[in-house]
Amino acid sequence: LRSDLWARADAYHNSFLLKSDPVLDATQHRTRELGKNAATAAVSPAQGKFLHLLLRGINAKRVLEVGSLGGYSAIWMARALPDDGELVALEISALNAQLRATRTLNPSVIEENVAAAGLSDKIRVILGPAHPSMKRLPSDEPFDLAFIDADKPNNTNYFVEAKRLVRSGGIIIVDNTGRKGYPADPARTGAGVEGVRELLRYIRDDDEVEATTIHTVGEKGLDGFTFAYRK
Ligand code: DHB
Ligand code: MG
Repeated sequence: LRSDLWARADAYHNSFLLKSDPVLDATQHRTRELGKNAATAAVSPAQGKFLHLLLRGINAKRVLEVGSLGGYSAIWMARALPDDGELVALEISALNAQLRATRTLNPSVIEENVAAAGLSDKIRVILGPAHPSMKRLPSDEPFDLAFIDADKPNNTNYFVEAKRLVRSGGIIIVDNTGRKGYPADPARTGAGVEGVRELLRYIRDDDEVEATTIHTVGEKGLDGFTFAYRK
């Protein structure tokens, strides 16, 4: 199976380039307890490290994450920030409800994971639907990078707000725009695929960004992300 080949290739490269990371393992463990799909939607370790290195490369101080789930990518990214840096993590926290039902705990999973990673002073978690949360963020505290990885039908809504919140010269990355190549297949009509097509049409007609999509393979199969430079 090709996906086995890609997962093996990912694991092979990771075995040279990524260190074991008990904190991130525990993050994924706590997230996985909440449902079988919860942890698999997180970025892969290689993708998490890519985001981390990208932030270091641009000397990022402020990052916005739209859709944080259990906080896996937020932890990767926050570790790249200086002491006075901040990552704002927006999470609708359906996981929180599941957690309450099973364990009667107050903090959401992401808050638990962020605290266990020792990053509570660097990651500001805002629970609730991301779009209204974004609208409440002031544009005079701009972000160096926004990572959009939430519900896919809202991609364009998130992208428009991200443009308001990211500084000129900053970066907006939208995850999962590759989607097994489905957006290019007219027979595919799912909400996620339509969310990608709408975003592509929006960016085509927008002169405030320059963007490109990079398709990826690895342990998560065939996917990709769209990388936009905010002019
Ligand atoms: C899904 C969402 C993601 O953000 C991702 O990276 C992979 C899968 C999903 O909703 O299935
Ligand atoms: Mg994703």
